[in-house]
Amino acid sequence: MGNVYVFDHPLIQHKLTYIRDKNTGTKEFRELVNEVAMLMAYEITRDMPLREVEVETPLKTAKCKVLAGKKLGLVPILRAGLGMVEGILKLIPAAKVGHIGLYRDPKTLEPVHYYSKLPTDIGERDLIVIDPMLATGGSASAALGALKEMGAKSMKLMCLIAAPEGVERIQQDHPDIDIYVAAVDEKLDEKSYIIPGLGDAGDRLFGTK
Ligand code: PRP
Ligand code: URA
Repeated sequence: MGNVYVFDHPLIQHKLTYIRDKNTGTKEFRELVNEVAMLMAYEITRDMPLREVEVETPLKTAKCKVLAGKKLGLVPILRAGLGMVEGILKLIPAAKVGHIGLYRDPKTLEPVHYYSKLPTDIGERDLIVIDPMLATGGSASAALGALKEMGAKSMKLMCLIAAPEGVERIQQDHPDIDIYVAAVDEKLDEKSYIIPGLGDAGDRLFGTK
């Protein structure tokens, strides 16, 4: 079964509090989500392999480290996943970005897959799949399934807030996937919103209703 890593870094928790606050406006909400995404990316990439190289400093030859191994790819789930991309690209500017479009049908709560455009070499990349809200887990599970069918072999799921129900769903449907999250909240409400959560992430990011 996949692991769940909850990032309890004080900066992440502090910023998440203001993200949750209903009085935080669109501009600040967007900025904070990107800041948290950047901090989370720093932690998520901690296991990236390194290899030794030599560089000439002005004084001496030094044995140093550079990143080795597979290249990264980011796959935000549209639309709210877009809100975390810029922050991650600040740390990993060369990462390729694929998009997968899913929305949750408000009546059936089933994910509807409407778009995907991915790097051609997704099978050779370590992918970070980005879904800020892991509620029922239906959208993320469908995205991970679709990406596996398209050839993805190595993926991590990055979320801002998860409900226990969403975590359980991913662990059941995709036991090979680790989940990285800033908070696991109490539960889902009757409309499958995360409680206490932050409301509708897409609407708050883009100022829609
Ligand atoms: C939200 C959110 C997640 C999904 C989570 O997307 O961005 O992708 O709900 O819910 P689930 O875990 O129950 O599937 P939404 O359908 O509101 O679309 P949007 O991102 O376009 O606003
Ligand atoms: N999608 C959101 O944006 N928020 C929730 O609480 C659940 C699903």
